[in-house]
Amino acid sequence: MPVINRIAEFHADMTAWRRDIHAHPELAYQEHRTADLVAAKLAEWGIAVHRGLAGTGVVGVLQGQGSGTKAIGLRADMDALPMPEANAFDHASKNPGTMHACGHDGHTTMLLGAARYLAETRNFDGTVHFIFQPAEEGKGGGKKMIEDGLFTRFPCDRVFGMHNWPDLPAGRIAVHPGPVMAAADQFTITVHGHGAHAAMPHNGIDPVLVAAHVITAMQSIVSRNTDPFDSAVVSVTWVEAGTTYNVIPNEAKLHGTIRTVRPETRARMPERIARVAENVAAAFGATAALEHRPGYPPTVNAQAEAELAAQVAAKVVGSANVVWNPDPSMGAEDFGYMLEEKPGCYVWLGHGGGAPGCRLHNPHYDFNDDILTTGASYWATLAETLLPRSP
Ligand code: NI
Repeated sequence: MPVINRIAEFHADMTAWRRDIHAHPELAYQEHRTADLVAAKLAEWGIAVHRGLAGTGVVGVLQGQGSGTKAIGLRADMDALPMPEANAFDHASKNPGTMHACGHDGHTTMLLGAARYLAETRNFDGTVHFIFQPAEEGKGGGKKMIEDGLFTRFPCDRVFGMHNWPDLPAGRIAVHPGPVMAAADQFTITVHGHGAHAAMPHNGIDPVLVAAHVITAMQSIVSRNTDPFDSAVVSVTWVEAGTTYNVIPNEAKLHGTIRTVRPETRARMPERIARVAENVAAAFGATAALEHRPGYPPTVNAQAEAELAAQVAAKVVGSANVVWNPDPSMGAEDFGYMLEEKPGCYVWLGHGGGAPGCRLHNPHYDFNDDILTTGASYWATLAETLLPRSP
């Protein structure tokens, strides 16, 4: 069974919504127009609308037929990125410096398409919560919705997410029984030396040289302290030191990101980085202090829900097009917070590369409208499969 026929009939409407949202991108927690659009459509279809969670978040609640008490959450993200769009087509961004370069316009549209179909057919028994969240791009809107009572006000037994994936051909769906996206934590290491005239280095302790040794020594954390079958990234991405040519500064700062997929590996990283930095610095008579800032947790699917998601995906795209357990991504995703609260599954929806360079966060990216009905059909089939009506 491919795309649900009734949803295929919405394709022109969905394309119009998607392009409208694309043309009017909004940054984290400022998704007012998008949230208005979502709320108006849900209300038009008779779905109960709740607003205000995490500010611009929208939750639609739809009861099926029958008296079932099971409930699921289906989540889409609504925010855009602070980057200029390089496309020139009619639906290119009308908000300078803001762009839907991650396809959240498509994610919002696909969940709307499923909501319209499910409201029309209600061929399920239980409750579907349509969760439209703000601020996925680094600002933790999913976490904020949970803090604002998402799962206490709208209890869900399971929660599901989806992201378009340009490296996966259109018409395929990838499902991971376990980690799918990495944790993303940040660090700053401050190296304290002793400033001096650059021509008389023996009078000081050069924090730039110490920082260089710290960067080099940190390469051993992944290569020597991490299981080769595990995955981790420690990248120093930003080095700050000095003000001019002839002064050895007092201090140097190293900033960077840590990506991990296993919780135990993630937990070990601050101690490893601090130990390397502090002791390398000590060898030179300097000191180093680590500031570690936890970010998004890893996005980890539950085994049972991943198996269910794969079965549902097979109904929509055929089992030959379900990709089971490919390598996870070292990118991060704030749906990980929801999966810390509820069992569920986050899938990758094949998007295809499209035009050259049409990858996520590229200024030429545009969501592939051909997959709107595939994603909406996956959502609708998921609801009908997980909340079946009694025969
Ligand atoms: Ni995204």
